[in-house]
Amino acid sequence: MATQMVAVDPFDIVVFGATGDLAIRKLIPSLYHRDADGQVPAAARVIGASRRALSDDDFRQMAREALEAHVSEKQRDAATMERFLARISYVEIEVQGDGGWDRLREVLGDSKNLRVFYLATTPELFGPICDNLGRHGLADGGRIVVEKPIGKNLDSARAVNDAIGRNFPEDRVYRIDHYLGKETVQNLMALRFANALFEPLWNSAHIDHVQITVAETLGVESRAGYYDTAGALRDMVQNHMLQLLCLVAMEPPTSLAADAVRDEKLKVLKSLVPLTGEKAVDATVRGQYRAGASAGGPVRGYLQELDAAASRTETFVALRADIANWRWAGVPFYLRTGKRLAARVSEIVVAFRPIPHSVFGQGAGPVDPNRLVIRLQPDEGVKLWLMIKDPSANTMRLQHVPLDMSFAHVFSGRSPDAYERLLMDVVRGNQTLFMRRDEVEAAWNWVGPILDAWAATSDGPRAYTSGTWGPSAAIALIERDRRTWHEEMA
Ligand code: BG6
Repeated sequence: MATQMVAVDPFDIVVFGATGDLAIRKLIPSLYHRDADGQVPAAARVIGASRRALSDDDFRQMAREALEAHVSEKQRDAATMERFLARISYVEIEVQGDGGWDRLREVLGDSKNLRVFYLATTPELFGPICDNLGRHGLADGGRIVVEKPIGKNLDSARAVNDAIGRNFPEDRVYRIDHYLGKETVQNLMALRFANALFEPLWNSAHIDHVQITVAETLGVESRAGYYDTAGALRDMVQNHMLQLLCLVAMEPPTSLAADAVRDEKLKVLKSLVPLTGEKAVDATVRGQYRAGASAGGPVRGYLQELDAAASRTETFVALRADIANWRWAGVPFYLRTGKRLAARVSEIVVAFRPIPHSVFGQGAGPVDPNRLVIRLQPDEGVKLWLMIKDPSANTMRLQHVPLDMSFAHVFSGRSPDAYERLLMDVVRGNQTLFMRRDEVEAAWNWVGPILDAWAATSDGPRAYTSGTWGPSAAIALIERDRRTWHEEMA
């Protein structure tokens, strides 16, 4: 199915940190794809800004290389490439000083295009950039896009949000969580609210527990410097995984309007049972990968990548979260995420309760409870595990089999990257898939005490071998509740 086009208004997007990894790997290729699909109006411009001394042509050449490296050959055609590259210019700028701001104002000129400022920089620069945009009269009417991490804890998140808020009102602030741009994450809303089937069952009377796994095979490699100051709880749980949890757990919003959805997500975050002190230590497992094998080859351990003798930073975390409200009381949400695990797979498993009474005899085999598995990546799709009669048996023997919908089979064509959707949403002024300030702060409010509890123990993370599913304590965490991690992915 071809991507559906919705025309956007002409815009100028200024990318701060334009020569960095995010801009090169994601933003420039995403803008190109939108252009190739005809969604970017003729007057739109892309302005790179960073401290490097580059000419327009130098930066265009970087953008060309970015497209060659990150857009498949099939999607690149010479005419579209040239059209896209012609939109690009560059401004050398001192984000913490005065240099370059006049030039940026000159480049933007008195164009009527909507102004979007994308801060693909380290978060320490968010405040100075916003203040400079304000001081140079560029913030008025513009929209600002920021990436995670927004702070390291509640206090620093507030400071970052204050700095942004000094110059941009909340309805012009777009905090990206790229997980919300993923196709299957949006499909979660379609599944829940466009089908009458699931919602009546979506509660503690029918759901036993929920599992959310985001497993990566990659290690931290060149990001070790940043990562060691973050760890898996800050890097993945505070944002992506709690957002997934919210979408599973929230009440049906009255519409898909930004605040209708964000109000419901906020209620979930505020209903999370706090994990403090002993309780936090008990409900969480931390791990750190050692050398092993991944994707068929030997890989180094975290400490070797970090080039340090010791570190207490977790590269894996598993935890049990509970939600104290009418819908979810007594339904645990098990979350786990880690680097250098056995497979790259992200999925949400909704495990239904067992049937109340079996009419089948011993020979039928076990009657396994239904499971709804929403696969985010790879092989996006949905599987509903049902019990059926084994057709090859001439007695009533039961089998647990999936009703399997792979999106790649049902829909053909390229599946757009999350950033494509999110960038166009910024231009359209649709904040539904972006985090509001109070959501970010509520998430930190829940995560903070876990970090404090960890810091107060003498234990560090448990070692796990690269290429496995993490420390065995993560298996014990769920098994002590007489449940198991969904095993199909192993
Ligand atoms: C980022 C994290 O936000 O998400 C990374 O900082 C992680 O550590 C990445 O690798 C995972 O994103 P995706 O889209 O590859 O699942």
